[in-house]
Amino acid sequence: MGVETAINIAELREHARRRLPRMVFDYIDGGSDDEQTLARNTAAFRERELLFNVLAGVTDIDLSVEILGMKSPVPFILAPTAAQRLFHPRLGELAAARGAARFGAPYAVSTLATQPLDAIAGAHPGPRIFQVYVWKDRQLVADILDRVRAAGYGALALTVDAPVAGNRERDRRNGFTIPVSLNTKTVPQALSKPGYLLDLLLGGPAQPANFPLPHAGDVMTHINTQFDRSISWDYVCWLKDAWGGPLAIKGLSRPDDAVRAVEAGADAVWISNHGGRQLDTAPATLDTLPAIRDALKGRAQIILDGGITRGTDIVKALALGADAVAVGKAYLYGLAAGGEAGVARAVEILKNETERAMALVGRASVAELGKDVLAG
Ligand code: LAC
Repeated sequence: MGVETAINIAELREHARRRLPRMVFDYIDGGSDDEQTLARNTAAFRERELLFNVLAGVTDIDLSVEILGMKSPVPFILAPTAAQRLFHPRLGELAAARGAARFGAPYAVSTLATQPLDAIAGAHPGPRIFQVYVWKDRQLVADILDRVRAAGYGALALTVDAPVAGNRERDRRNGFTIPVSLNTKTVPQALSKPGYLLDLLLGGPAQPANFPLPHAGDVMTHINTQFDRSISWDYVCWLKDAWGGPLAIKGLSRPDDAVRAVEAGADAVWISNHGGRQLDTAPATLDTLPAIRDALKGRAQIILDGGITRGTDIVKALALGADAVAVGKAYLYGLAAGGEAGVARAVEILKNETERAMALVGRASVAELGKDVLAG
């Protein structure tokens, strides 16, 4: 069975599991410490119930939203995730971008992308977001911003929840690093998936393509040594100025930080706990949404990610006040399973499920979704 016939995201995940060496699947699939936040993100969606109006005139469902100044036909963004050539060794981000572009879904490019940011721009007409981290070297950030601007990215997202790398125990157990190093743990895993290994060998090492990795280091060492732990909110002011366009602050979980982000110039607050990969035991993102929405009082848009695998999840987040959501793992399973076609299938599944859920709750547009569709 090919990816085109996968009936849901869980099936794409199983395709990915079969295709990838265990260490790579676990890097996508895993979280930090005991993976409590990873599990909570999903559970929070499952615990909520949707109430439905009937005979509500839902002939045409309009999923479109405006996010960070860009119009999108779907209310979900493909979240920035690192090193996509690990998941699809030949094309990586180019395959993901093309898959998203088939539906016009916004694609967010990670600073740790393994394809040049201008080549990715060529694969996806937009909306496109570029993600940056908090780096010690502001000149390096300014240089990347020049390239991001020249390549026509419409918005920037600053990830703030990774002053240090989270404790990913699956990665440690598997001997996994980016780029992959050959050792007694990784070689047997790679050899067990010869198709994948061949693609990886032909494609060359999957490593960041938009800045030089210092020394011979891996990505997590880079995060731990090069990310600036000393900075505070003035960095956001500086970045907003240096960029000059729409800015989201990604990795917020508390109303006080959301308000600070707006005061520092953010146009959108991106509620995220990094897919449960950073601080374990942090609350589910959905559970933090109502208080953040109330604190913001409409002064900034809200994006939310974490645990979304179903159209009903998307409807719940939008109903609680998110202007758009983002998905990471959901499309990476598709990317690993079938490249561009797999990503397109993931997007199509989420789009169809969201449309169906909207029709079933009796709401024809995202603007019509409110708290009243949620029980309790
Ligand atoms: C991760 C980092 C690299 O979650 O963003 O793996």
